[in-house]
Amino acid sequence: MADVFEKISKRRTFAIISHPDAGKTTLTEKLLLYGGVLGMAGSVKGKATAKHAVSDWMEIEKERGISVTSSVLQFSYGGFYVNILDTPGHQDFSEDTYRTLMAADCAVMVIDASKGVEAQTKKLFKVCVMRHIPIFTFINKLDREALDTFDLLDDIEKNLGMATCPINWPIGSGKRFKGVYDRNTKLIEVFSDTRKGTKTGKSEKLALDDDKLDSLLEYGQLDQLLEEIELQDGAGSPFDLDAVRAGELSPVFFGSALTNFGVQTFLEHFLQMTTEPLPRMSSEGLIDPMKETAFSAFVFKIQANMNKAHRDRIAFMRICSGEFKAGMEAWHVQGEKEVRLSQPTQMMAEKRTIIEEACGGDIIGIFDPGIYSIGDTITDSDRRFAYEGIPTFSPEHFARIRQADTMKRKQFMKGINQIAQEGAIQIFQELNTGMEEIIVGVVGVLQLDVLAYRLKNEYNVDIIMENLPYTTIRWIENEQIDLDRLSGTADMKKVKDLKGRPLLLFAHDWSVGMTIDRNEGLILSEFGKA
Ligand code: G4P
Repeated sequence: MADVFEKISKRRTFAIISHPDAGKTTLTEKLLLYGGVLGMAGSVKGKATAKHAVSDWMEIEKERGISVTSSVLQFSYGGFYVNILDTPGHQDFSEDTYRTLMAADCAVMVIDASKGVEAQTKKLFKVCVMRHIPIFTFINKLDREALDTFDLLDDIEKNLGMATCPINWPIGSGKRFKGVYDRNTKLIEVFSDTRKGTKTGKSEKLALDDDKLDSLLEYGQLDQLLEEIELQDGAGSPFDLDAVRAGELSPVFFGSALTNFGVQTFLEHFLQMTTEPLPRMSSEGLIDPMKETAFSAFVFKIQANMNKAHRDRIAFMRICSGEFKAGMEAWHVQGEKEVRLSQPTQMMAEKRTIIEEACGGDIIGIFDPGIYSIGDTITDSDRRFAYEGIPTFSPEHFARIRQADTMKRKQFMKGINQIAQEGAIQIFQELNTGMEEIIVGVVGVLQLDVLAYRLKNEYNVDIIMENLPYTTIRWIENEQIDLDRLSGTADMKKVKDLKGRPLLLFAHDWSVGMTIDRNEGLILSEFGKA
């Protein structure tokens, strides 16, 4: 059994998060290049060549050339098996993006050096913080004009409320970008502009007193570097591995993914600083993958109808402990049934591959005959426990929907219930009314398009959709509160979710605070309990 622990100890499973266009895809491609998975850069997502990413199964994705779903990529490097959970790069990301973070042990945040922290990064970051997972920062595009380094670090600390510790420090930016200074080895890694797609550029490291620096750096650049380093050493947070692992300190790296500069340095440090797969809370307390020998996994995403001809569903699971073997019998905790885990697949950059085995830390896709829900636990048949569920994330867009043809009410209800059960949308009803009014809530507006498309294509139902002005939702934590007497704001609506839990919708953020003020003892939460 020690073998299993040895294998698991080499797994590193992380999600890459960023605002669209910061360079997440480019960085992923370069990482895969080091893992020998991609022969050339540009294969993960080819915008111009219409070469679609792994996850672009659905027609709607193809039509728009964007990726709606998240995919998983695996490669090995330096004895480690690295699982990258990619997240949709489009502005209109979905709840899947959030859920993906629940399956990762740490996150890599890519920031555009000319822009600093942007909206989408902030949202995703909140989920990372909720989970206390380590967050690594890669500040990208130093080959373009960048913001001041101190300002960038300040921006992260202020906006995200997390201390930072730069591992290296950039020298200039844009045309004056000369490389990065490693604060630990005190060597300058000289910027070499590799051609797009080449694996290793010229790697040159120079000491601060190296004569070559005279010709390499522009006038004043060395003095500026020394000054900045002195300032940072004096005022910045010192490196503390425990704080990094507790998700309290983000190590920061500078580079340029496009020119493949700083990527390998980042990868190597990252692998050293991260831990093996983390323990997870269950109905039997913490399950530590380095102690628990039994197989266990939880479902974090369900992808329906990847192959239209078969109407198939794939349940993506994060293996938390033990070993998985294709076709094995296991226990589906929520379904209270023995299941055979068949057709296991793993994502390898361009295609789905059938796999025979996997272990804690890995992500697999299992054929789902329609029995799994997001958050379900699968365990060894003789070791039954349930992992803590995945919270429901706050939708930010709402619409009232109904079927265009009243005769199709049954199909319509079946469709939206199934799609909601997969976790592709959230549905709500007005309090104290029947099922007539259906309100759909989504994290990204694209999910509404996907809903309309799927109802038409899979259930043959056209819908009429009316956008609602709400932008903010809060779950009521203390359910004993008398809803009829709850005094809210004019823009507030009371609804309930599928499980009958009461919620409040608001058109304005500030109404949340006002409602709390007006109702003594009312506790509102941004995430729904699983
Ligand atoms: P995303 O997944 O975060 O949305 O970003 P993506 O990697 O697609 O990068 C967005 C754009 O930024 C791309 O340009 C990409 O080439 C460019 N980029 C990424 N990293 C760097 C970098 O280090 N330096 C510079 N200068 N540019 C970078 P594009 O023109 O939108 O696409 P493409 O035609 O190059 O594919």
